[in-house]
Amino acid sequence: MASQRIAVVGAGYVGLTAAACFARLGHDVVCVDVDKAKVDALSRADVSLHEPGLAPIVSAELGTGRLRFVHGLPDDLSEVDFVFVAVPTPTGADGAADLNAVDTVLDQVRDRLSANTVVVVKSTIPVGTVSRLTALLNRPDIAVVSNPEFLREGHAVEDFLHPQRVVVGSENQTAARRVASLYAGTRAPTLITGSASAELVKYASNCFLAMKLSYVNSLAELCEQLGADIADVTEGMRLDQRIGSTFLTPGPGWGGSCLPKDTKALLATALSAEVDFSLLDATIATNSRQAHRVVAKVRDAAGGSLTGVRVGLLGLTFKAGTDDVRDSPALAVAELLAAEGAELTGYDPCVPGGDAVGSVRVVASPYTAIDGASVVVVLTEWPEFAELDWKRVGDGGRAVVVDTRDLLPVKKVREAGIRLVAVGKPLVGQNNHRE
Ligand code: UDX
Repeated sequence: MASQRIAVVGAGYVGLTAAACFARLGHDVVCVDVDKAKVDALSRADVSLHEPGLAPIVSAELGTGRLRFVHGLPDDLSEVDFVFVAVPTPTGADGAADLNAVDTVLDQVRDRLSANTVVVVKSTIPVGTVSRLTALLNRPDIAVVSNPEFLREGHAVEDFLHPQRVVVGSENQTAARRVASLYAGTRAPTLITGSASAELVKYASNCFLAMKLSYVNSLAELCEQLGADIADVTEGMRLDQRIGSTFLTPGPGWGGSCLPKDTKALLATALSAEVDFSLLDATIATNSRQAHRVVAKVRDAAGGSLTGVRVGLLGLTFKAGTDDVRDSPALAVAELLAAEGAELTGYDPCVPGGDAVGSVRVVASPYTAIDGASVVVVLTEWPEFAELDWKRVGDGGRAVVVDTRDLLPVKKVREAGIRLVAVGKPLVGQNNHRE
């Protein structure tokens, strides 16, 4: 497709990635944000997001002139072929998505667009939103299209330029095909469908991933009681291509800015449609219980009480590869530990030492978090934690490590004289498991 003129509204994680990558794909992009400081920083290629490859693309495309940032919506958008809406749709009071920011953008662009411009909603929006926005926009000569994003934090550029799929939904199939052709350079499989289906694909995918994770976390709990090893069980499962080989690692629960929001939103949609989506309800409830399960393990490891116990936390972000602590299961566990009187020191390679994050005193070295702690808890799957000098930790008399991610080398840690409490492994004393 020839170069198109695209306005992206919202320079957050989704909008900035889309703006930079559309420019990289050869389009002429203006990225709009209400935050002047953010616009000024981005105009200097100063990218604060922890996304590999994003800053170099922003810098390069500023250089080509295909990408620019502006503060506030330009008065004249008549030259623009597509307007991408990438503003936040946070969880509202009732669990449903709050769409005020999206509606505001539609109100603002209504009188600035020429005919045949396509309004594309990339923000995650509940099913039925495109048809509501079409009425709100009230421009029969302008189509509104759903184009959900499937970016994983820490892999946003990779996932945008090499997507596993492009999904576009609209009752105006011509407009949908025009949007799909913007991604021609990615050669990704493309699904063009109605707006409701496109909106639902996003929620359906994220909620399925969440369900898979809650399933494996419950399976891990069962393994402990049955003398089975979750690593072997999931290895056996992975060999079935229908199950897939990822999202089968137990953890302290799933978190981040998407899965918790999207599971609540889809459940709210199901409730308003009077559909009993109890499987999703159970997925969410299982995840809420996971933090309490971890706390029980830590409390047991501390001898039954956490009052005044010094606990060292390894990992604070919601997953490895990001600096994002929003809805982090690690912090959910930390607050529960603090509520029982634990004194928390935490280390995370992407969280600056010296700060306090909630009840956690953040330090700059994993060994500072470990030294002086009666119990150490691995909460985020940063690979560096497996490579720590566990012999030194053992020599320092650190008795117990709770590994909620099954990340640590069991043999090496135990040989260092450390009592390792893993997840989904046979309880100590059961002998039918491999080291
Ligand atoms: C997710 C979806 O993957 C992505 O497609 C969508 O566009 C946005 O939401 P993200 O929020 O970046 O992406 O997180 P993801 O990588 O999916 O991880 C979600 C949570 O699951 C994290 O807390 C992670 O630690 C946890 N997780 C993931 C596990 O506990 N075990 C696993 O095997 C994988």
